[in-house]
Amino acid sequence: MCGIVAYVGPQQAYPILIKGLKRLEYRGYDSAGIALLNSKLNIFKTKGKVSELEKLVKDADLRGTIGIAHTRWATHGEPNNENAHPHFSQSKSIALIHNGIIENYASLRKELESRGYVFQSSTDTEVLTNLIEDIQINEGVDLLEAVRIALNQVIGAYAIVVMSHDDNDTLIAARKGSPLVIGIGIDEYFVASDASPIIEYTKNVVYLDNEEVALIRRNKDLKIKTIRNKDKTPYIQELEMNLDALEKGGYEHFMLKEIHEQPHSIQDSMRGRLHAELGAITLGGILDYEQKLINASKITIVACGTSWHAGLVGEYLFEDLARIPVEVEYASEFRYRNPIICEKDIIIAISQSGETADTLAAIELAKSKGATILGICNVVGSSIARVTHAGIYTHAGPEIGVASTKAFTSQVAVLTLMALRLAQLKGTIPKTRFNQLLNELELIPEKVQQTLKGSKKVLEIAEKFKDVRNFLYLGRGYNFPVALEGALKLKEISYIHAEGYPAAEMKHGPIALIDEQMPVVVIATNKGTYEKVISNIQEVKARKGVVIAIVTEGDLAVKGMADYTIEIPETEEMFVPLLATIPLQKLSYHIAVMRGCNVDQPRNLAKSVTVE
Ligand code: AGP
Repeated sequence: MCGIVAYVGPQQAYPILIKGLKRLEYRGYDSAGIALLNSKLNIFKTKGKVSELEKLVKDADLRGTIGIAHTRWATHGEPNNENAHPHFSQSKSIALIHNGIIENYASLRKELESRGYVFQSSTDTEVLTNLIEDIQINEGVDLLEAVRIALNQVIGAYAIVVMSHDDNDTLIAARKGSPLVIGIGIDEYFVASDASPIIEYTKNVVYLDNEEVALIRRNKDLKIKTIRNKDKTPYIQELEMNLDALEKGGYEHFMLKEIHEQPHSIQDSMRGRLHAELGAITLGGILDYEQKLINASKITIVACGTSWHAGLVGEYLFEDLARIPVEVEYASEFRYRNPIICEKDIIIAISQSGETADTLAAIELAKSKGATILGICNVVGSSIARVTHAGIYTHAGPEIGVASTKAFTSQVAVLTLMALRLAQLKGTIPKTRFNQLLNELELIPEKVQQTLKGSKKVLEIAEKFKDVRNFLYLGRGYNFPVALEGALKLKEISYIHAEGYPAAEMKHGPIALIDEQMPVVVIATNKGTYEKVISNIQEVKARKGVVIAIVTEGDLAVKGMADYTIEIPETEEMFVPLLATIPLQKLSYHIAVMRGCNVDQPRNLAKSVTVE
């Protein structure tokens, strides 16, 4: 959701900025723009993709060694040329790009209008731009000070970069809520919403903290202060990411690449943590919080979307193995309720991006009530990773496709390790059973690899059903979250309406939808409620529904009833989500490709949802 890139240094800025915007395309956006300073400060912007921006500037003067660029995901005002960033201030003396939302923009705008400002767009960003200019003029301060004073008047979330027409050497960057990373090269600086546009130039980065403002000057040291004017020492970190992870590596889409990466990404999530041969699990990131986990009276999991589905698998795992009550909450609901949280509670926040606004707000709320917050994040150094007391990185590697795939299975893998470790600590699992589960968990990456081989069948099913308008997904127990996740994947990227349901709930409503046109995907693996799910399949068949079943290798009973079956390897019931999700991801992928949809950047969606 919105992307920021900025550069100052000896190189021409335009190629770096445009490449950076392309690296950020995965975040989701609907307009793009760039500002460059040569003899004058020029802004080029347009609705649509970065490729449209490239067409727009084809014959323009693009010289300049300092510049800012942006991809916008509309919040205030429709996605058109006027609302695209960068925004000029009224006198065109400064240009600004912004991610986030200025909540009090309406009152600030009114105030500025009363002082003669005329607005060209309906954005909150232009309000902030003019506010900075107004402060500069009226208080006679430099740009850094004007930005700092303005940000003290702003309510909301922001990551901004500002440049001025009369200073070829300086960028000002600031953040609160929305992320911002500064890359430090040799005599040059890069600024971006995440590390992906920076990684090919430098691995040395500084993550700005909330309410920090950075003064970034050509050939000078980076200076950081808070918006309350307190100096801070920049903390330089080394990026672990590598460039290959940001390329498609021969696959047609990032999503397909990421689906196929899962044997490795799951392995990476467990590497150094699962020691089956020793009968041990080590979770270094939360080691100091193990006693708190043992003493906790309940665990609350907060997350959104796919991460929420992973949380639901986590609920089953923790309750099953560690015998502790768990609630899984939509972060967006949790933050506006008056939830009952006490100091002994553990909150687990799950987020691929680590930037989801609702999840961040839920964390702040729980923190204010004294709870201990543990994070499960993929993006290293992300906001959620930084505000939680402790946590475990999933190490799935960058996920570029908007539809989450490998992040989900890695989140489930980490939750599995946590639940098993807690069970061991609390003594709620016999040692032999614990060892048996660890041995099986170690085999999961290999079984995911086998699952990925069953592509032909999935293609055949995709071809058959690519034009239907509705899908129903059913599962019970551990397979219920899998049904939800399968349905979410399909609707996100193919725009086919799909619902996930606990299989037994079908007869309380959705059964009315079933006819010969309605494909029903049933996750019917051979453990737990297998017999009950078979009855649910019969109920669908009795109403002439078409059943596509995910079954355990060698299954005969469901095969005899279902219209189509996809086999996955046999495993423990609690590990089935790690396998059963894979063919559902592939089914959605192939249907979306066959329908000509933009798989990696589905319409209206953003990869990290940094506004509520
Ligand atoms: C997943 O396919 C979605 N695009 C979306 O539901 C996502 O999982 C959700 O926005 C949460 O994101 P997070 O994991 O980065 O917090």
